Formats: sequence, C-alpha cells, structure tokens
Amino acid sequence: MQTVYQYYSQGQWKSSESGETIAIVSPYLKTSIGSVQALTQDEVNQCIQSAKAAQPDWSLMSIYDRAHYLHAWADELLKMKEELATIMMKEVGKAYQDAIKEVERTADLIHYTVEEAIHLSGESLNGEHFPGGSRSKLAVIERVPLGVVLAISPFNYPVNLAAAKLAPALITGNTVIFKPATQGSISGTKMIEALAKTNLPAGVLNLVTGKGSVIGDYLIEHDDIALVTFTGGTSTGERIAQKAKMIPLVMELGGKDPAIICEDANLELAAKQIVSGAYSYSGQRCTAIKRVLVHRSVADELVSLIQSEVEKLSVGSPEDNATIVPLIDEQSADFVQGLIDDALEKGATLVLGNKREENLIYPTLLDHVTKEMRIAWEEPFGPVLPIIRVDSQEEAIEIANASEYGLQASVFTQNLDKALTIARKLETGSIQINGRTERGPDHLPFIGIKKSGLGIQGVRRSIESMTREKVIILNINEK
Ligand code: G3H
Repeated sequence: MQTVYQYYSQGQWKSSESGETIAIVSPYLKTSIGSVQALTQDEVNQCIQSAKAAQPDWSLMSIYDRAHYLHAWADELLKMKEELATIMMKEVGKAYQDAIKEVERTADLIHYTVEEAIHLSGESLNGEHFPGGSRSKLAVIERVPLGVVLAISPFNYPVNLAAAKLAPALITGNTVIFKPATQGSISGTKMIEALAKTNLPAGVLNLVTGKGSVIGDYLIEHDDIALVTFTGGTSTGERIAQKAKMIPLVMELGGKDPAIICEDANLELAAKQIVSGAYSYSGQRCTAIKRVLVHRSVADELVSLIQSEVEKLSVGSPEDNATIVPLIDEQSADFVQGLIDDALEKGATLVLGNKREENLIYPTLLDHVTKEMRIAWEEPFGPVLPIIRVDSQEEAIEIANASEYGLQASVFTQNLDKALTIARKLETGSIQINGRTERGPDHLPFIGIKKSGLGIQGVRRSIESMTREKVIILNINEK
C-alpha cells in the first residue's frame, strides 16, 4: 500500500477536502511511489491566513528562540538522512550519494543561515553628516520581516533549494507558505516532517501541494503574500512576474552557461571541469555548463580530451550512483532529443551519444555547432553539450552575451589579466575563472540576470532579500 502524503497547516497534517491526490511517478522506476494532496483554493487561503496569524508572534520571538527550532530542524534532517536521500533518489532520480550530500549540505546551510542572521546588525545615521543637517536627528535602521513568504522550490534540488528559501525566511521572522514542485513534493513533505518534529509553533510553516492549474495563480496573486521566492523554469518565472502584485520577487531561473576556452588554457583541467559541469545529474542543473566556446587553435585537442572524460561517465540507475540517469520525465527527454536532432540536421558533428532509452539520454557531445542551431541558444536541461569553435576572444564574448540568459560563465586561461578582461565583459551574474559553473558554497552571492533571474540569493543576500529596512528617527532635544 502506497503512502498518501498529507499537507501541513496550522500545525496539523491534513487531507484535502477535494478528495483528490496526485500520484508521483519515479523517473526511473516508472511506478508511483506515493501521492500528495491536491488542495483547493479555499484550503490554500486557510494556509495563508494561518501563516498571517502566526507571523506577529513569530517575529516577536527572540531570534535565539527561532534559531533553536531551525538548528533542531537541521539535526532532524541529518537523523533521517538515509530515508530522505532514498525518497529523493526515487522521486527525482538523483544518484543516492548525491542525495545524501544534498541533505548534509542542507543541514550546513540551515545552521550557517541561522548564525549569519544572528550576527547581522542594524545601522544608525546621524543627521549632522548631511550638509545642513543636525545631530538632533538620529536614524536607527533595523531589518524587519516582510510577512508571509511564498517559497516555491524546483524538482532538481527538492531539499537544498527548499531550505535555501525557508531558513532565511523563518529565521528573520517571516512565516512561510511552502509549495514544492509537484515532482519533488514528497521530498518536500519529508523535510517538513522533520521541521514539524521540532514543535514549531502552529502556522509558522504551511506546506501546500496541488495542481498548478488550480492553485498556482491563486497563490501568486493572493493579497497576503509579501514576497515570492521561486526557483524553476524561465517561463514560469515570467508568469509569476506578470501575475504578482506589487511585491518583491526573488527568482532563480534558466541558464545557458558558457565555458570560454582560450588558446593558453590548461586543457586537461578545462576538460575535466567542463564534463563535470555539463553532465552531473544528467545536466539537470541551472548552473550546468551548456555550451563550450573554444578557440579554434585548441579545439581539436579540447574535444578529444572532453570525449575521453565523457566516455568515463557512468550511465544507468541513481541507485548505482550513475552520473547519467533518466531525465525527470519523457517530455524533457523529447525536448533534449529535439535539440540534438535539429543540430545534426543542420550539420553538427556527433562526437558521442545520441542514444536514447525512453527518458534516459546517453551523454551526447556535439562539435562544430553553429549559431543557426537551437542547441546554441536553448537550455536542454539534459546531458548534451555543444562545442562552438571561435576565432577570437571577442567572438567568444559576443556569442556568450548574445544569450537571453545570464546566470554564470566559466573562463579557462592561464593569464589572469585575460581572465579578468573577459570576466568584466561577460553579462552574467557570476564568472568562474578556471572552474566549472556552480552555485556553491552556499554563502556566496548567487545572481541571475536577464532571463536567468531576479534578485540575489546566497545566505546573506537571501536574508537581506527576505527582510526590509525600517527606519526610526529620533528627534532629540539636547538639554
Ligand atoms: O539548478 C540550480 C541550482 O541552483 C544549481 O545548484 O550549482 O549547486 O548544482 P548547483
């Protein structure tokens, strides 16, 4: 008998009055591994009202008391590490060891977030520092919570990217509506089971699950939501931006991260970093390297080195810790296949791959990709890497910046001046010099520009995003 997971509101686990549930089908077992509740709009509203009612007391509680719950949550997550990793593996097809690492990373993230928030301090400004001002005015600037935060997490990091939103929201005194991606919502539910074990006050965290078509817009448009923090696809992000009321948005969306390989690069290092960056978890990472822009003079050697690395990748089941695992669903595999087919039809050279078994796409390497091919611009979120040969550093920068995305980029060169010159010209949130594109460690600022996102994440910046400054001005009559 399969588990029917409940939603969590007002400190209680509940079944939806809709009587409907959504079956979660494992991407590699191809069977249902459980189901989650399909909430009604009315139930979502009750969750939001519960969060709204709980927020004043939660924010008035001492930060050390809030910290106690969050540290306890991180400890609970570690206690259930194997159970949570197994569920994550089955639900989103993540290799077991990677799922274990994700839980550990999450516990570290929660502890660090709490400590960072505890050590943040406010500011004061004296009026006399402005021309004509007077020291009789003293402004005290504090950070205060926003209210009820709506946190929507993606399938690919169902635990870590959920906690990256929940922890900064909660420690700063917000209450939260947590809506995990449907594929990922069992993992999300299990992590809230861990949080519930800490006896968190009722209403502080509410977990909602359901059909996007029924509750998606309702959640985003709700008057009592003070901030939406979302990680997922660009099209959903754009819809959120159109629908949301006049509230702050923090969004981490798609990417088309380039790796730029200069003539003087350490090609062995670059090849290893590129392959790890492009193919881990079958490329289902927003920060995956999604195109290589290599100087023509070193292209043959680089392609050969990348090919050798790709040939070493394990393909198969997440239970065997394979690097290349079935994609999240058949539709995603169809999309990736469409990009490969388009490139081959337009003259790209197939170096490796283009083999498919249902939603398992073997690691695919395409050389001589041109700007006319869809794969040069579109995000596959799958294990396919295009190589674009360029004649100059300027051409690499031009193609890199022509993308609608702007998450990260990698630059490989042994000349630091050249690296910095290129980095300064690239239109991305961050640039990695001689390393693969990646978000971590989690305290670094994480920024997507253009269609890659809005706002800033990373522990400290997330804390700042989920609070606002409040200014109290003392008008002093000095005697
Ligand atoms: O998928 C988006 C994630 O933020 C990527 O995180 O670089 O740690 O894999 P990562």
